[in-house]
Amino acid sequence: MTIYARDAAMYDAIYGGDDAAALEFIRWLLEFLEINNENDILDMGSGTGTLLIPLVKEGYNIQGVEPFDPMLNRAREKAEEAAVEINIRKGSFETLDDSEEYDLITAINGPLHYVEPENLHDVMKRVSTALKPGGRCVFDIINFHSIIKNYEYPDPVEFDMFDSTATAVIQHFVDLDRDKWLNRVILFFKDKEYQKFEDIQEMSMYSMTTLRIVGGLHNLELEHFFSSYEDRPEERKYGGRLIIVFKKST
Ligand SMILES: C[S@@+](CC[C@H](N)C(=O)[O-])C[C@H]1O[C@@H](n2cnc3c(N)ncnc32)[C@H](O)[C@@H]1O
Repeated sequence: MTIYARDAAMYDAIYGGDDAAALEFIRWLLEFLEINNENDILDMGSGTGTLLIPLVKEGYNIQGVEPFDPMLNRAREKAEEAAVEINIRKGSFETLDDSEEYDLITAINGPLHYVEPENLHDVMKRVSTALKPGGRCVFDIINFHSIIKNYEYPDPVEFDMFDSTATAVIQHFVDLDRDKWLNRVILFFKDKEYQKFEDIQEMSMYSMTTLRIVGGLHNLELEHFFSSYEDRPEERKYGGRLIIVFKKST
């Protein structure tokens, strides 16, 4: 069972490390795209609200959609703790059925990877339909082509979590027949008799070409792209991400 349906606190502890960089990027991107508090934003796959909560606090008119209850509940708890009123509902790319509602749809840190390749066409159509004419969507995914080209086997990493020290062993498997990347994280908790926690994520590997072709079929034209959270148009900083901004043609 995916960690999103199993343990949202564990998700935050294992995968929350890059949140500050993602948040800084998205703040910059909103300014760059001249999105202000009069625009309607949907954050698809908003998870535990790591980006949603600060952006609501900063006055953006942003609502979240998330498919898994533990993630939704943790986002609501975190918002309550931060005394921020968020609007988050259950849903997914596959169930999005709004029409011309949003100026911007964001999907930060990989929600698109969980869309099955056979559903991509339908999902792009839904995203396009949900955008106002001239609206944008931002897909932030891993650039698996670049990762594979420069692949280095990850060393085990040690970090403190839940009053213990955990060693994380990370393994990757690529299934080229199905365009899938499997990420296996095994955590060993030192102070808890090496108790083990395992998470396996199966992700669809999408390329820029695929997204441009399928997006183009639904009036979504490439406007900008970035390859890391530090990347800016005036100072290119390359990395292992594909952050693609599409604009819906009017
Ligand atoms: C790595 S997390 C990122 C969460 C959040 N966007 C952030 O940056 O903190 C990926 C999120 O995508 C969600 N997700 C999984 N399948 C999805 C789908 N089919 N449609 C939309 N979101 C999905 C997961 O539940 C999870 O919350």
